[in-house]
Amino acid sequence: MPQSREGSFLSDSMKELLGPGVGQISFERMQELNRLMSYYRCAMMEVVTKFNVLNEQFSLQFDRNPITGIKSRLKTLPSILEKLERRGYPFSLESIEENLNDVAGVRVICSFREDVRMLSEALMQQDDIILIERKDYIRNPKPNGYRSLHMIVSVPIFLAHEKKYMRVEIQLRTLAMDFWATLEHQLRYKKDFDFASDMEKELFTCAHLSAELDERMDGLRQLMQQQNEQTGSSSGEKPLRWTDQSHNLR
Ligand code: GTP
Ligand code: MG
Repeated sequence: MPQSREGSFLSDSMKELLGPGVGQISFERMQELNRLMSYYRCAMMEVVTKFNVLNEQFSLQFDRNPITGIKSRLKTLPSILEKLERRGYPFSLESIEENLNDVAGVRVICSFREDVRMLSEALMQQDDIILIERKDYIRNPKPNGYRSLHMIVSVPIFLAHEKKYMRVEIQLRTLAMDFWATLEHQLRYKKDFDFASDMEKELFTCAHLSAELDERMDGLRQLMQQQNEQTGSSSGEKPLRWTDQSHNLR
């Protein structure tokens, strides 16, 4: 069946966001939406660059990479609309900016827990970054065992004639935390899967094991650091450094 010129292929929420009809008004709104998403993309790039710079600097200082990978993602329009609806917010561009903190997301995977702390502090010392919210799920894990440090920050992007602050969600976690969260997400989001309480318990136990792994690896890192300080030596031949710049954050 052919679609009408009124754009019946658009969902109700999309129509509300873009305005009635498919004439000049919604075309302009579409352009505004594209512009807003582009601002979020720029803010996300700013944050990624900040972490790359910190990684570069700390790797010179400590002779190892505190960051093993950075992932970034922009929320899709359906996902933005779904969240506005779920939270009961209006469907408008202003509402997106005002009510959603995670349109732009950056996930930083660190080697050790100590790196998470060091990087978050170093970022917050930068005078152009404004902290909106901080949730420390490492100190206080979620009931299911999820651990990560979450920060919502406001970061300036410099446009042709203005400076605009955009919000970005940052998640900092270790490799072990990421391993657990990635697999937990895969299991939980299998829509046809009944998440039995036995599975939840098992996942919770796995979260404990991953926390223990982090603790023991941190112990080894401290030992190595102490030995280096005593002998005044660096770790010798530098290993090859790989960082994952893939843009596949879910
Ligand atoms: P959202 O509506 O999901 O954004 O929740 P929120 O605003 O309360 O934010 P919160 O800081 O709790 O979590 C935001 C993000 O953290 C999620 O979108 C996930 O990427 C991640 N996250 C939070 N809890 C879990 C969890 O239990 N498992 C996994 N795998 N990821 C989680
Ligand atoms: Mg989210």
